[in-house]
Amino acid sequence: MNWILDAIIKMLPAYFGNSAPVFLGKIFPKLTKPIDGGKIAKDGNRLLGDGKTWLGIIASFIGGALGGLVASTWGIGSIYSGMLIGFSAIFGDSIGSFIKRRLKMKRGSNAGLLDQMDFIIASLIVASFFQSFTLAQILFILISTPLLHRISNIIGYKLKLKSVPW
Ligand code: CTP
Ligand code: MG
Repeated sequence: MNWILDAIIKMLPAYFGNSAPVFLGKIFPKLTKPIDGGKIAKDGNRLLGDGKTWLGIIASFIGGALGGLVASTWGIGSIYSGMLIGFSAIFGDSIGSFIKRRLKMKRGSNAGLLDQMDFIIASLIVASFFQSFTLAQILFILISTPLLHRISNIIGYKLKLKSVPW
């Protein structure tokens, strides 16, 4: 298989896991309880903020599993590895939000590369326990993800799934 396609398929659970929270949040808006429970950190800002919900965590497992299922049709990974990679994407995303809150950035504010890369770095680390990546594939994933993230968020904005296009 083409090495680029191979890299994309290996990362499908990360992409699915990272985008699933937006969809599930739209379907079940009442279930969006924040992970930090509204807790304020010592610096006076929220620990994570209202954008990081338990439903998002559940969604990351479901999205990751789905991504793993799709990838497994090419013989790459499984539902199980997909779940863990999907969860790691949203775990990395939460670390990104934690950093944003410490920088006094409001929920939904544009943090550029931090927003675009937090999930992929965490999921690449976890995915590499299950898959092997060449250096070229890692570089391709790191370089193409911000672009993909931008495009998918603009589409999400146009479809009124997201309130901001980043
Ligand atoms: N989301 C969620 N739970 C998560 C992660 C994301 O419910 N653990 C949903 C929220 O509806 C969130 C949306 O996905 O608003 C987009 O995610 P993201 O851009 O990461 O969150 P922001 O709202 O921009 O918040 P932050 O500034 O903390 O990144
Ligand atoms: Mg955001």
